[in-house]
Amino acid sequence: MSAKVRVALFGFGRMSQAAARNLLRNPSVKLVLVASRSGGEKIGRDIGDILGIPATGLIVKGADQLAQSLAAARPSIVVDFTNPEASLTNLKTAAKYGAHLIVGTTGYTKFQTEALRSIANMYEVSLIMAPNLSIGINVLIDSAKKMAKVLKGFDIEVIEEHHRHKKDAPSGTAIRLARLIAEGVGINPEKELIFGRQGNKSAKGREIAIHAIRGGGTIGVHKIVFISDNERLEIKHESLNRNAFTDCLIKVIEYVHSHPPGIYSVEEILGLGTPAPVAKMVKMDVS
Ligand SMILES: NC(=O)c1ccc[n+]([C@@H]2O[C@H](COP(=O)([O-])OP(=O)(O)OC[C@H]3O[C@@H](n4cnc5c(N)ncnc54)[C@H](OP(=O)(O)O)[C@@H]3O)[C@@H](O)[C@H]2O)c1
Repeated sequence: MSAKVRVALFGFGRMSQAAARNLLRNPSVKLVLVASRSGGEKIGRDIGDILGIPATGLIVKGADQLAQSLAAARPSIVVDFTNPEASLTNLKTAAKYGAHLIVGTTGYTKFQTEALRSIANMYEVSLIMAPNLSIGINVLIDSAKKMAKVLKGFDIEVIEEHHRHKKDAPSGTAIRLARLIAEGVGINPEKELIFGRQGNKSAKGREIAIHAIRGGGTIGVHKIVFISDNERLEIKHESLNRNAFTDCLIKVIEYVHSHPPGIYSVEEILGLGTPAPVAKMVKMDVS
């Protein structure tokens, strides 16, 4: 990249702080804005103070002053790690200011996802829904799709484990994995995906069950188990620290910066699977 890419971070919790550390070290990126929850204890503080590094001169702004902050900082890309409700409002404002949207937040409903696509369409900015920002997890997804095509007839379970603070369960990545495997095996994800096996639902070789474990500081584990009467195959990915996400984020930022506006997936950006054409978006009222 020639000129530095101007990047804003929305939210300043676990993920955004990890991202900020990485972005501050990257010579091709300039972190120009950090905006978080209005009234929160981080507002008005230098991000260096929060990160435990020397002062950076970048002060955390409140989301209630987002329009003014965007006008002053002029980010070309916004990276969001907040929660679905907050991000819908904040990302609409960012798109109005012409910023491309990288959405790391998870837990969106279908309606919220469509609303984000519509916002990107309306303001002609890029949208990357990135619930799985890690190179390894994307390779796991790609491998699982291929394995599912061969392992038809095996019972399949998806198991995920995260820290005790995670707000959504099961994880967006686990649901995506199960959906893609269902498509690979040739079963209907709407009917045959189940969440847990409460009610003594036996494995009948058709449905795929997703199980969630919550506890401690576990950053993220995703495991897929394929079992037949005669053999068992497991593939597993574990994030050892949050740099697993932020290294991938830099690749996504570089891609967005060097490509025309469109809706891209992280898999496509990493060169995995068949590149999807730039997606068409559904117009809907997001006012
Ligand atoms: N894409 C991936 O690979 C990946 C990986 C891990 C996690 N995630 C997802 O990323 C999201 C954030 O995770 P996290 O662990 O960083 O959560 P977190 O530590 O709770 O951070 C969330 C941040 O959002 C801020 N916030 C809340 N409301 C806001 C608003 N209206 N405007 C602006 N900021 C607001 C919070 O402010 P306060 O600090 O004042 O509360 C906090 O700083 C979750 O959805 C999580 O599942 C994604």
